[in-house]
Amino acid sequence: MTGEFVAAIDQGTTSSRCLVFDAAGEIVAVAQREHRQIFPRPGWVEHDAEEIWACVEQVVREALASADIGPERLAAVGITNQRETTVVWDRATGRPVANAIVWQDTRTGPLLGELAEAYDADRLRARTGLTLATYFAGPKLRWLLDHVDGLRERAERGEVLFGTMDSWIIWKLTGRHVTDVTNASRTMLMDLETLDWAPDLLDALRIPAAMLPEIRCSAEVYGTAEGVLAGVPVASALGDQQAALFGQTCFQPGEAKCTYGTGSFLLLNTGASPVPSQHGLLTTVAYRIEGQPATYALEGAIAVTGSLVQWLRDNLGLISTAGQVEELARTVDDNGGCYVVPAFSGLFAPHWRSDARGVIAGLTGYITKGHLARAVLEASAFQTREVVDAMNADSDVALRRLRVDGGMTGNTLLMQFLADVLDVPVVRSRITETTCLGAAYAAGLAVGFWPDLATLRDKWRSDAQWQPAMDPTHRDRELHQWHKAVQRTLNWQD
Ligand code: G3P
Repeated sequence: MTGEFVAAIDQGTTSSRCLVFDAAGEIVAVAQREHRQIFPRPGWVEHDAEEIWACVEQVVREALASADIGPERLAAVGITNQRETTVVWDRATGRPVANAIVWQDTRTGPLLGELAEAYDADRLRARTGLTLATYFAGPKLRWLLDHVDGLRERAERGEVLFGTMDSWIIWKLTGRHVTDVTNASRTMLMDLETLDWAPDLLDALRIPAAMLPEIRCSAEVYGTAEGVLAGVPVASALGDQQAALFGQTCFQPGEAKCTYGTGSFLLLNTGASPVPSQHGLLTTVAYRIEGQPATYALEGAIAVTGSLVQWLRDNLGLISTAGQVEELARTVDDNGGCYVVPAFSGLFAPHWRSDARGVIAGLTGYITKGHLARAVLEASAFQTREVVDAMNADSDVALRRLRVDGGMTGNTLLMQFLADVLDVPVVRSRITETTCLGAAYAAGLAVGFWPDLATLRDKWRSDAQWQPAMDPTHRDRELHQWHKAVQRTLNWQD
């Protein structure tokens, strides 16, 4: 192994980033570029995979330039990505056959009924850890096969390839068609025990096996990059939420984190076997290091948190930067009785209602834009409380504190409200870029840049904590109002 740094590429929902880390795990360079969100119809969300690849190349160049290093000084690069977003491309030309269908997209709703007839929902949950919802990649791939002219025939002949964003980026970097267990666990096509594609699920969804990537570990060398990262081993891939769990060094069963990005995702390490959820959580692969068994997690997936702040900025124009939401929310003392339930993609955990649509409840003439801003922030905390309740109901031990990371954790009003609503301390990691850090850690482990998990664990530090301070009667009242508002989002599509 040569090289003094490890790079990570985070291909996220709204932007692509490249970070470079030194051996101490400190950030030495950051570059970021946003890509377009394409909304062809209500409920549809697409990305242009070519545009994303151009952004990835660009951020890699910018990060290396800002650290003033060439690729030869990198020991490895790790990949982390928005999960479930589905791309199909031509094996010969490398061109995507259509826009990528994003995880938030709900167009596969009508397909779910058909799938439920072909495959029992309980059996599906036992096999894949997933619930029948529009969120996952398999139904999105099926939609493309059904709607892009001639695609099924080409897929059967092996002329086109499927991948989530990890596969797409690794293929662009190395020419290898692979994915890792964490990303594969979000397709609805992988068996959680065998960690291989499940032939009966491929049949139920009518997916040709010839188009699927090989499933590999999260930390292992997949190949050597060409182009912007020429000569660098591509040595990890993890879905972004699993990468954040890894970056937060939650390596022990019982350790949990919640990442506040476009959506928010609370993952609890459950150790070496998959734990089924009885309360609306997903069972998923946390990571697998080469030569070791997989580690599993329970996940509470919340579709809309940070993207609700973006909506306030871009669709309503109430703020001009996302950071201004805190200032606006601080112009009032409370939510004034207003609750925003952002069921933009239906409701995810623990409800799993694709038919839900968002509501603003409790409007009176008293409500100002400050109250709306406050209700927007509070929605993230209330939704977290719902998944923490589900997590506590599913596991023997109640969560005693929550490790948090991601862009929204810079919002101290939200962090205090989160501690108040959860009634447990909220602890922020010093490096909030845990997604990239996790991908870098996994890649560094794979090439021997870092020796073991214990070394990584020693690096974890917190920089801030919030203690619960809300009066319990007040908290109960707020939660009651929130649950009433959630009820109003249901059955909207009837
Ligand atoms: O499952 C979707 C998730 O991976 C998206 O994460 O951070 O891009 O919103 P993020």
